[in-house]
Amino acid sequence: MLLLTLVTSLPSWMLLFGSFLIYWIIKIVYRIWFHPLAHVPGPKIAAATHLYHFYHNAFNKGQFVPYILPGLHEKYGRVVRFSPDEVDVHDVDVIQSFYAHKFAFKKDAKFWDAFGIPRSSGLLYDYSEWRPRRNLLNPMFSKQSINTATNSVIYPMIEKFINRLQEFADSNKVLPMDGALYCLTVDIITEYTCGKAWGFLSEPGMDSAKLQSVRWLTAGSPYSIEFPWLKKVVLRLHKTFPKLNLGGYSVTRRAAVETVEHALALNAGNSQKVNSKPKYILDALLNPDHSKNFPTLGFDDLLDEAMMLFAGGTDTTAHMVLFSIWRLCIDPDTRKKVTADVRTLVRGSDGRFIVAEVEQLPYLSAFIKEMLRCYYGAIGRTPRLVPAGGITVPSTGTFLPAGTRLSTAFISYHTDPDLFVEPHLFRPERWIGAPGKALEKWLLSFGKGERICLGINLAYREMYLLLAELVTRFEIEPYQTTAKDMEMIDQLAVAPRGRFKVLLKSKEL
Ligand code: HEM
Repeated sequence: MLLLTLVTSLPSWMLLFGSFLIYWIIKIVYRIWFHPLAHVPGPKIAAATHLYHFYHNAFNKGQFVPYILPGLHEKYGRVVRFSPDEVDVHDVDVIQSFYAHKFAFKKDAKFWDAFGIPRSSGLLYDYSEWRPRRNLLNPMFSKQSINTATNSVIYPMIEKFINRLQEFADSNKVLPMDGALYCLTVDIITEYTCGKAWGFLSEPGMDSAKLQSVRWLTAGSPYSIEFPWLKKVVLRLHKTFPKLNLGGYSVTRRAAVETVEHALALNAGNSQKVNSKPKYILDALLNPDHSKNFPTLGFDDLLDEAMMLFAGGTDTTAHMVLFSIWRLCIDPDTRKKVTADVRTLVRGSDGRFIVAEVEQLPYLSAFIKEMLRCYYGAIGRTPRLVPAGGITVPSTGTFLPAGTRLSTAFISYHTDPDLFVEPHLFRPERWIGAPGKALEKWLLSFGKGERICLGINLAYREMYLLLAELVTRFEIEPYQTTAKDMEMIDQLAVAPRGRFKVLLKSKEL
């Protein structure tokens, strides 16, 4: 009675604050001791609040996966609870089920919806909806189609890129290599999507703020992941006020709307196209072959798919090439071997390499694989949900109930000494010959299984040709760029902490 009188006599702000405090105390106690994941090892602070992960991932700029997670696995073992509702597992059996047929482990909508492209192939959660979409897209990313696109889009863009670099070399001007590679990958994917490149390679300095527009998915990922509602608000605002500038996401969305409208106008009334081989991705999407059960896509599907391609096909490859160039700058022995390997090739009369020959080069191939192993490509978590019935992690016997958000960050596997001998050494030679072939199973950079990266053939093509061209044409020297600048951070795709600028000198061909 006395207590009740005391409570009712308190000012209302104090009552509100007190209730808030009690609510959080109960919630934290529940999360640490009574939650279905309470038995999973990990720091208590991480079990208590999402702020732990937020601090390392968003506030501290994408540091969680590369710098904190490995330490957590070392301390707590192969299964670690790093947020109230998420665990990371380092177990070779679990990762194989993770990519099993027909999505036993579905992508977690709470995580992926944060990117604001729910109708894209990368984010469709239901197998029955995703499979036909992927069937429709796959032919444009087959080896054969990428060979055709190499002549019509990829090599011409690389030549344009080389010409731009030559300007910087001739005038001894500092080149923002990060910006330049980004311009190239944007122009390749936008040209291949709709036949109309965004023209970033023509930007005078290849370094303007405009370049950042496509980066909402990667650079913005630490924030969208922590505050998924933010993207829903932006999406709603964008739909209501299409002209409002809401950062990179809305810039890309507006550009994607124009792209899709342009493609729709070109394709209007053109029902003959089904029988001709589409040149651009949107042509293929707009003219589905119904005899193969390909779906008809609506405007939102096309828009989100275009955005997925613009975002998925740019930072990923650009950053892998960026780190490769850095590696070649700081590691003269590897640089000599890669250059000597490429120098065994003879260019054709058009000045180009023969693609099939470049991709057969043993040392360049080994170098690219070792880069993907050590720099991960997609470094971020790509979480799935544990299916009905839960799972028991074989290596530890830990039970994870249905609905647990499960990550299997590649970093644990790529640095596992049971899978890669002396994993912390950068050694391309490990990929040569039969032993190297056997290791490929554990190169996870593009994911695995049915949902493996759609753009894998395009990404490899860009990496091979760019590196072959760069090592034979230029001497590259970092300019005011330190090892600290080139430390990896997690922006879903691997990214450098700082800028990578260079000075170029032409080489004799
Ligand atoms: C080095 C470059 C690249 C890396 C390391 C990479 C990595 C990945 C990974 C790991 C996934 C699977 C994510 C998951 O399982 O949750 C993925 C999916 C995807 N990637 Fe890539 N990617 C690269 C380049 C590209 C390119 C050039 C494109 C082309 C447009 C692309 C488009 C996609 C798409 C559309 C998906 C979703 C596939 C689906 O769910 O059906 N990626 N990528």
